[in-house]
Amino acid sequence: ARITVLNGVNLGALGRRRPEVYGKGTLGDIEAGLREAFPDVRFTFAQTDYEGEMVGLIHAAATEPADGLVVNPGAWTHYARALHDALEAAESPVKVEVHLSNVHAREEWRRHSVVSPAVDAVVAGMGAFGYHVAVRYVLSRL
Ligand code: DQA
Repeated sequence: ARITVLNGVNLGALGRRRPEVYGKGTLGDIEAGLREAFPDVRFTFAQTDYEGEMVGLIHAAATEPADGLVVNPGAWTHYARALHDALEAAESPVKVEVHLSNVHAREEWRRHSVVSPAVDAVVAGMGAFGYHVAVRYVLSRL
């Protein structure tokens, strides 16, 4: 299977950024953990702090469709309707939104996602394990 894992704004700072909320692991640790746990999956990983670049990555995932798209949009989750529209148009058979933290147990503004209507499933509050859950879900749908 081929799975694209996209991380958005500020997620390149994982490990240094509020480890009590997001965990001590870096994004590199998360990606290495996925490769180790799913040796048969061909992963494409990318992270960007630029919304337009994220739109391009989502479109790229659509023109060369993977079996699944796993995306943590970071704070864009809460207001970036352009990402909603890009995800809605993406032809990936399965799309999963992941949040490391439990966005429902934090500030009120984190409780709403403008992206969720364009994806099949949402994982929140499981830390890095949430990405593994998302990949397992994609594989279960193949
Ligand atoms: C996040 C939650 C968002 O509210 C926040 O802005 C992030 C990370 C998460 O993974 O828990 O940057 O998407």
